[in-house]
Amino acid sequence: MNKFSDVSLRIEKLREKILYHNYRYYVLNDPAISDEEYDALYRQLEELEQRYPELITPDSPTQRVGAPPIKEFAHIRHTIPMLSLKDARSEDEIRDFDEKVRKSLYDAGIRDFEYVVEPKFDGLSCEITYVDGMYASASTRGDGTVGEDVTANVKTIKSIPLRLLSDKPLPLVQIRGEVLIGKDDFERLNEELSQKGLKKFANPRNAASGSLKQLNSRITARRKLDFVAWGIGDIKGVTIRTQKQALDYIESWGIKASRPREVFKDIEAVLGFYHQVEKGREKFRYELDGIVIKVNEFSFWPVIGETSKTPKYMIAGKFSPQRAVTELKDVVFQVGRTGIVTPVAILEPVFLRGVVVSRSTLHNFDEVKRLDIRIGDSVVVQRAGDVIPEIVSVVKEKRNGSERPVVPPVKCPVCGSALVVENVYLRCVNMSCPAKLEGAVVHFASRRAMNIEGLGPGVVQKLIKKGLIKDVSDLYYLKQGDLLSIEGFAEKSAENLINAVQNSKHINLVRFLYALGIPNVGEYNARILAERFGSISAIKNAGLDELLSIKGFGPEIAKSVFEFFRDSKNNYVMNRMYKAGLRVEEVQTKKYLDGKVFLFTGTLSSMKRNMAKELVEAAGGIIANSVSRKVDYVVLGSEPGSKYDRAKKLGLNIISEEEFLKMLERSK
Ligand code: IVH
Repeated sequence: MNKFSDVSLRIEKLREKILYHNYRYYVLNDPAISDEEYDALYRQLEELEQRYPELITPDSPTQRVGAPPIKEFAHIRHTIPMLSLKDARSEDEIRDFDEKVRKSLYDAGIRDFEYVVEPKFDGLSCEITYVDGMYASASTRGDGTVGEDVTANVKTIKSIPLRLLSDKPLPLVQIRGEVLIGKDDFERLNEELSQKGLKKFANPRNAASGSLKQLNSRITARRKLDFVAWGIGDIKGVTIRTQKQALDYIESWGIKASRPREVFKDIEAVLGFYHQVEKGREKFRYELDGIVIKVNEFSFWPVIGETSKTPKYMIAGKFSPQRAVTELKDVVFQVGRTGIVTPVAILEPVFLRGVVVSRSTLHNFDEVKRLDIRIGDSVVVQRAGDVIPEIVSVVKEKRNGSERPVVPPVKCPVCGSALVVENVYLRCVNMSCPAKLEGAVVHFASRRAMNIEGLGPGVVQKLIKKGLIKDVSDLYYLKQGDLLSIEGFAEKSAENLINAVQNSKHINLVRFLYALGIPNVGEYNARILAERFGSISAIKNAGLDELLSIKGFGPEIAKSVFEFFRDSKNNYVMNRMYKAGLRVEEVQTKKYLDGKVFLFTGTLSSMKRNMAKELVEAAGGIIANSVSRKVDYVVLGSEPGSKYDRAKKLGLNIISEEEFLKMLERSK
């Protein structure tokens, strides 16, 4: 085969694959591969087409009008420049700002004014233009004068209306705000990425920015981005007098605007609000990095003025810094529920974004090597929102020669067994190592698993030490009296813990699967298993081949699931929990064509026959190759063969291609 036909075959194969995955994604809403895998296929095709433009055909997925993944963003010039904010990092700097504002206004004879204060959302600023109430374009801030045209991507954000709510739409309004990703969606995204062996985002801000700046808007569409407005750019058709009024208007048009927002006259009251938001910042769905204090009346803004980069009538009151330098006092070794030994840095306590950080994971011994970290070093610690604190670098200039290297242990620090080297990890393989039990129970009880409040590491350690827990099923047999003998428990707290355990007895399948701590099964794979099998007993009955046939399940995952449910100890523990009254809610499986037999005849116009067969099988249907009474549906393509005549004779149920597609869709 010559080079050219080889390439053209590869191109054809890629196109087929992409079309198939588009169909799974857009029509069936049941994607079979991750966004990243899809993106990789798409890019391969693009690269080949770039190298061999003569092989581009008008029906190639890269040529689709309306959603072409772009090479780079076009530019949009802001009609009114998007300035930036000056930061204040202390109460004094905020008071300083107030004095300057007050002075400029007093000098102009203005004695009465207000501040409106809002949270400062840590995302990516963006301007959305509506013309006659209709979504027209969106751009990033860029350099403040010219931004990137992200119209197609922003359009995929579900909370952004394509038409503003209003009887009399304004001819023009530009809404400015922050594109964000919720902290929980960020965690989920990162979990998904890491389960696929892909690089995680360092914080929600990077995730939002990385997702918005995808050149392929299909990827953006599947990240859960959100938008919160904080201001207005150009506007025609209405006069707005204050910032507070602007935010109220924006909300009335159906777009989220910053909240809470409060109006104050006095800077001390502003400072009170600042501390209140900082204290409660962890409870926000989004990452906040401060508050923004704005003079409320628009007519006073030109009086106070601006520099070339920042307005003088607003300031950002930043929260305590995200990074800090501190000393690495020691490295201890922690044994997790899987037996993996993790080096943990013990730090000189340091205040970081509202909490004291004194420990930080070093992940594994490769990371220790990569950072070249030594005990006694000055290290840079970072904490991004709910993300656990981590050491980002070592300040090597501060070394004085007294620093000691970190020596990996050879024995399990908890049970003393010899450790085994596994890739970058050290693992304790002693089945009854108490550290593994502690990790398993803490994981089982954790918020996203069984959500048993009050069962953190401290309590679990005590329960294990007292011999009250030998596996997670013992939790369901605990009595109030057992707890009273444990230090720190009183009547009420013991009752609360027992109640929390009892309340976890009705649990959904995804959480339960996740709680079990099956190796390689995080929340993402737990959901896949739940949707595919619907119940624990169905998963238990699944053969290795069936597990292997799940898209995204490699041999390692399939094997751990298979082995977990064949382990007699695991079954004993699960049965004991069921006996104690634990009920796992079943899930509607996606096998909507369960057992239905399909036969194809003739040529399908929307897809190749193989693809149609795969879709039927993925939905639990069965493919027949010959006509018989067992066939439930005969799908009729164009130019059908003799099968059609025989099917008619037998009086079988003959459906058109359109009906077949509807069936697949309806059963989503
Ligand atoms: S007002 C002159 N309000 O912070 C710029 N900005 O560090 C007016 N931001 O570029 C900005 N929350 O992207 C304003 N409530 C809020 C905000 C906010 C987040 C972002 C915005 C701005 C950046 C400056």
